[in-house]
Amino acid sequence: MNGSDSLSALAAATGAPAHVRHARLLDWVRDIAALTKPDRIEWSDGSSDEYDRLCDAMVRAGTLVRLDPVKRPHSFLARSDPSDVARVEDRTFICSAREEDAGPTNNWVEPGEMHRTLRGLFDGSMRGRTMYVVPFSMGPLGSPIAHVGVEITDSPYVVANMKLMTRMGAAVYDVLGEDGAFVPCVHSVGAPLAPGAKDVAWPCDAKNKYIVHFPEALEIWSYGSGYGGNALLGKKCLALRIASVMGRDQGWLAEHMLILGVASPGGEKRYVAAAFPSACGKTNFAMLIPPPEFDGWRVTTIGDDIAWIKPSADGRFRAINPEAGYFGVAPGTSYESNANAMETLRENVIFTNVALTDDGNVWWEGMTRTPPAHLIDWQGKPWAPGCGRPAAHPNARFTVAAIQCPSLDPEWDNPEGVPISAFVFGARRSDTVPLVSQARSWEEGVYKAATMGSETTAAATGKVGEVRRDPFAMLPFCGYHMGDYFDHWLRMGSRVSEPPEIFSVNWFRRDADGRLAWPGFGQNMRVLKWMIERCAGRAEAIETALGFVPRYDDLDWSGLEFEITQFVEVMRIDSAQWALELGSHDALFERLGDKRPDALMTERARLEGVIAM
Ligand code: OXD
Ligand code: MN
Repeated sequence: MNGSDSLSALAAATGAPAHVRHARLLDWVRDIAALTKPDRIEWSDGSSDEYDRLCDAMVRAGTLVRLDPVKRPHSFLARSDPSDVARVEDRTFICSAREEDAGPTNNWVEPGEMHRTLRGLFDGSMRGRTMYVVPFSMGPLGSPIAHVGVEITDSPYVVANMKLMTRMGAAVYDVLGEDGAFVPCVHSVGAPLAPGAKDVAWPCDAKNKYIVHFPEALEIWSYGSGYGGNALLGKKCLALRIASVMGRDQGWLAEHMLILGVASPGGEKRYVAAAFPSACGKTNFAMLIPPPEFDGWRVTTIGDDIAWIKPSADGRFRAINPEAGYFGVAPGTSYESNANAMETLRENVIFTNVALTDDGNVWWEGMTRTPPAHLIDWQGKPWAPGCGRPAAHPNARFTVAAIQCPSLDPEWDNPEGVPISAFVFGARRSDTVPLVSQARSWEEGVYKAATMGSETTAAATGKVGEVRRDPFAMLPFCGYHMGDYFDHWLRMGSRVSEPPEIFSVNWFRRDADGRLAWPGFGQNMRVLKWMIERCAGRAEAIETALGFVPRYDDLDWSGLEFEITQFVEVMRIDSAQWALELGSHDALFERLGDKRPDALMTERARLEGVIAM
């Protein structure tokens, strides 16, 4: 057989469309089908017809509830199995060849052993189901910053979500051509169907889940879960864990960062990339609406969760949002906290684990001040205010295409990305960390990001207020040793002639009575404006142990009553608190062993010297 005969034979064996001419892709699809033994194979084309057909079938199967066509046009509600409601960090593995390359913050299993485990689990795992082949581009098709993945999945819910979250469909094969690189992503809900057996609404393996990354092979395998980051493999698995490894090896950055644009009344435009741990209001910040007094200032959204950042020939970092949609946390989202998100959610949305209203709409905690008198909760049970259970799961989500966002930046789809003027690092701290500070050097900025810690919320761990170190907000998402990752960041500072300024922020400081001391949300514009003007060399600041900070008069207070005493409180740098803080930084660095970078240790020593003063 010549090359094109064998290609045709492979295409025929897998039912591939005629324009798929990529032998390695066809080979891989045939091998995975032979292992997982689905009833049929479908190659997704990413069309609206396909999306509608899948959603209709999921409504018939009970996986989706169609919402009221007037109140929430073309939108659906999914209720997951109660055992499958969030990312499973303890079941997430980085299987590098050497354990030391995964580092102390990741779960590691020897790759050969993991492959044997996975082969056992995937053997026949798609029996009775359709296996979908889903090609997707993370980033604008053909962009020099983008990368392609192909996900094989037995979940139509995943296919529909991937359509909203990525540039998914047939055009990706043109980018791939005959031998283009792609990241193979294999996903199974792990619930084979015996002949004639009736399916459940949310198939998954309630007991056994594996989210596995092979950094040398650049491969992802996910078994047992159909939810979010466990199953939509373009997001945390490819765009962060695998891409962070690609970034380390190829000299770029894959970060857990939103990207926003700020336009000033004079027409100047700057872009900021900001990292916050989960549950710190990233989507709200990405879609910020400035207070009315900030006439002429506008914030626009490039992305709400992930940034890919590459050095460009113009001496700057240019960034894209590799995603094309938002998979946001619904509870807490309201017209008060994020009107742009609420407008984005008017139609064409898949909601997961929110509550259903009696008139076929959705509701979640915090959406309105007064809850409806009656709901069906996320588990499908009748619900009334005061019944003692949340109506929506705390990690209930919406999936929606970015194109619906009213604040979407006109450059969001630019294949060249946007130039980044500032990196911002923020977390949830009721004390210790001031509202804002600016690093004096790249190393000081990397130190701030590396030592970031965030207070856990009850939803995540049940323990409120415990500080978890979450370097760069990447703790669950870095695909290699955290010490090597710090080193990579330190080196990246000299890869561009105009490195961005680095800022630390804390919107969550509390007063002596335990109340939030900073109004947050749209009022964060006051801090954002100061940061933007610092980048332009316009705003004033004074120097402190933690770098440059604004004085009261350096921030624009028009339209807000915020006394100087309140400002002093949110900016306070307390030496006793910082002595404890530095001790806790040490605990992180100790975990990194030999891989803690010297430049950060020098920074640590400098800080100790100045903080006590
Ligand atoms: C997310 C997360 O879902 O960070 O974005 O957990
Ligand atoms: Mn995230």
